Amino acid sequence: MTGTAPATRVVELPTGWVRDHLHEVLAIYGAAMGYGESVVAGRYGYAVQHTERAGFRAVGAFTETAREDGAEGERLVGFGYGYLVAPGQWWHDQVRNAMDRRTAKQWLPGAFEVCELHVLPEHQSRGIGRQLLHALVEGVPAPVALLSTPDTDTKAFRLYHADGFVDLARGYHFPGDARPFAILGARLPLLSSPRNP
Ligand SMILES: CC(C)(COP(=O)(O)OP(=O)(O)OC[C@H]1O[C@@H](n2cnc3c(N)ncnc32)[C@H](O)[C@@H]1OP(=O)(O)O)[C@@H](O)C(=O)NCCC(=O)NCCS
Repeated sequence: MTGTAPATRVVELPTGWVRDHLHEVLAIYGAAMGYGESVVAGRYGYAVQHTERAGFRAVGAFTETAREDGAEGERLVGFGYGYLVAPGQWWHDQVRNAMDRRTAKQWLPGAFEVCELHVLPEHQSRGIGRQLLHALVEGVPAPVALLSTPDTDTKAFRLYHADGFVDLARGYHFPGDARPFAILGARLPLLSSPRNP
């Protein structure tokens, strides 16, 4: 973290707050992933459905910012959310196909899916993503956390591997996406990391 980085607080976001601020939340998703407006707009309905799932939990990172009127304010600069997976959910069933049967049996039942984790580009690499990840899975009623991420050397991949996630499948192609994905899993509670003792 740099000495000039603004103060940031990471908090749990009530589900109602997420629904009320979904455009703001998904704008961070679009900026972090480099997706255009149409992709972000197409995500809206899915995200609403996600907030209705069992075990939904969201966290957000707010930084201090000066508003136009000169008063101090706060801005959402990162968020993460997830929920408990269940058979019949698109992601659950895809991931079950991606894994061998034994791995699926060990990892899927009752798992918490880290569905989204994003930090605005100008706020990345300051420890916010790691704080969000740990806050998101802390205390969730699940034995493991699962996620999928593009199967390349990204900040996300490095973060997950550094903090205890292991490969459950590599090079998996979700329908409609040309990129290969890795499916990763971690036993909960998450391991402490050097920056998160
Ligand atoms: C992935 C993401 C959430 C991580 O958040 P972040 O605030 O940038 O990450 P942190 O500063 O907490 O760093 C955590 C780890 O990420 C990796 N990382 C962060 N910045 C990095 C950089 N510039 N180069 C390489 N690795 C980096 C490192 O492993 C780092 O751990 P370390 O500092 O102990 O080496 C964020 O970079 C992001 O939003 N990326 C784009 C969207 C995305 O890929 N989301 C995940 C989809 S599955």
